[in-house]
Amino acid sequence: MCGIVGYVGGQQAYPIIVKGLHRLEYRGYDSAGIAITTDKQLNIYKQAGKVSDLEDFVKDKNVKGNIGIGHTRWATHGVPNQLNAHPHKSGDSNLALIHNGIIENYDSLKKALIKRGHVFESETDTEVLVHLIEEIKKNEKVNLFEAVRLALNEVIGAYAILVIDKENNEEIIAARKGSPLVIGIGKGEYFVASDATPIVEYTRNVVYLEDEQIARINKKEALEIKTISNIIKTPYIDELELSLEAIEKEGFEHFMLKEIFEQPKCILDTMRGRINAKTGEITLGGILDYEKKILNAERIIIVACGTSWHAGLIGEYLFEDLARISVEVEYASEFRYRNPIITEKDVVLAISQSGETADTMAALELAKQKGATILGICNVVGSSIPRLTDAGSYTHAGPEIGVASTKAFTTQVVVLTLMALRIAKEKGTLTNTEYRQIITELELIPKKVEKVLELDDLIKEIAAEFKDATNFLYLGRGYNFPVALEGALKLKEISYIHAEGYPAAEMKHGPIALIDEHMPIVVLATRKGNYEKVVSNIQEVKARGGRLIAIVTEGDKTVKELADYCIEIPACFEELMPLLSIIPLQLLSYHIAVMRNCNVDQPRNLAKSVTVE
Ligand code: F6R
Repeated sequence: MCGIVGYVGGQQAYPIIVKGLHRLEYRGYDSAGIAITTDKQLNIYKQAGKVSDLEDFVKDKNVKGNIGIGHTRWATHGVPNQLNAHPHKSGDSNLALIHNGIIENYDSLKKALIKRGHVFESETDTEVLVHLIEEIKKNEKVNLFEAVRLALNEVIGAYAILVIDKENNEEIIAARKGSPLVIGIGKGEYFVASDATPIVEYTRNVVYLEDEQIARINKKEALEIKTISNIIKTPYIDELELSLEAIEKEGFEHFMLKEIFEQPKCILDTMRGRINAKTGEITLGGILDYEKKILNAERIIIVACGTSWHAGLIGEYLFEDLARISVEVEYASEFRYRNPIITEKDVVLAISQSGETADTMAALELAKQKGATILGICNVVGSSIPRLTDAGSYTHAGPEIGVASTKAFTTQVVVLTLMALRIAKEKGTLTNTEYRQIITELELIPKKVEKVLELDDLIKEIAAEFKDATNFLYLGRGYNFPVALEGALKLKEISYIHAEGYPAAEMKHGPIALIDEHMPIVVLATRKGNYEKVVSNIQEVKARGGRLIAIVTEGDKTVKELADYCIEIPACFEELMPLLSIIPLQLLSYHIAVMRNCNVDQPRNLAKSVTVE
């Protein structure tokens, strides 16, 4: 979590850094801070709350300077107040440091530093690191680059850090391990940030720092990179493909709404170039070399968190149903700590929008150690998971900035569908006709999603009716069960209404006790699958006075007679239904959250990229 930005060059640093912090605010918004040096003077300003609170705070302050670093925080160690906000400074007030990650051994380092006379102002792990660097710099009589390198050799944990020294107004030292860092190269200037969004409008030439690398970013010199074990590395310059429009709201009130409405295009982008129009042949270039491994795998273990875990559950249905491969779907955070049985015959597939989720990374590392083939489905190009895995497929959804995942989910499901179909074809578990029918249907999905999006006004009316509810139940069966889980997650994370997703039939084993005339129940009752059985479950709810919102297939009559509200979506194959049935649930939570005056794009306590466990 946390977003970090730095600038050194000929321009004023403050406006560049603040703009960058706004772009990175999705990563954390508990507090924000900035350090700028000019004429050997270090000015640090920080404030609890959002970047806009920091801007108000610095209105009458001196923010002049051509070098600076800025931070937006998602609190781990220490409450989100001004004192714990970054940047943190060294004891002699010469150095300022910002950090994304966790220093796991900070307690023992801190105790040792206190014994040696250091005094700390905050409760953070980060402040320990800047004191350690200061001490090494003085004792070893080395420059900042070397002092940071030596200090990082004593650190256990994850970090992306930027450090500046008020004595040197030309240089930023950056380092990373487990948290992302991108360096943008301009003419006589450098930009550095947690992702490329603060950089894209200034330069397209970027260097993605690798784990355990440290960079000396001096505006007058070429970029210098070495590992923390002191091996010099030649910087590899990548070209950014990100567009500025992709990271702006383009007329939508919120990023989340924009991203919901982008889904037809994103789904098309995910499929683009992967299905041969004439033959229906699917090619996933990224996993081509590992296809045999998947075909011969005894099982596929999917590891993920949150929404990506829900996509993984749909993957389980798809792989088992279409390709007849046994699948286990694991919460990465549980999997990594429970001594799982993994062999070389297993394929472990991580799903992650950000490609940075700490638990998912750790689960993959464990699987790698045990000899499994490790694959990934990620959205953020060049992020840590694609770097770690043997192979994988990108979702190509474009930047997802709203903290609640929407387009990432549907595009993950599309990649899983393509993978399952490709394997099914190779294994012969589907007939040619069945295979072609699903492909044809898949190609129609973007248009059908567009049709579902036309129901936005109706969904808004339903939202107005239920916005004051305190609990919601979401029910679904088969392919629609993970959709029920995802719908409930969307509602709770952005509107703060308690919601539970349940397999519809499981309801009578407990949750049915919750149902009364105040309880809204969202039921996924689309045709095919277990339709008749879901209808019986609906009757059980109705008999207990629950208020029903049903997602049904166009033309449905049976459920219409039972439900208080019906949202009719186009018919499609059961296997592809989650791609349509999730859309009304995303819109319902969005509108309820807006009506409750919640911060839709930055819900409380959350952050987009969970780089701590
Ligand atoms: C929910 C949400 C989170 C993420 C989870 C995993 O809307 O966004 O539950 O899905 O933190 O993140 P990634 O997919 O980046 O690994």
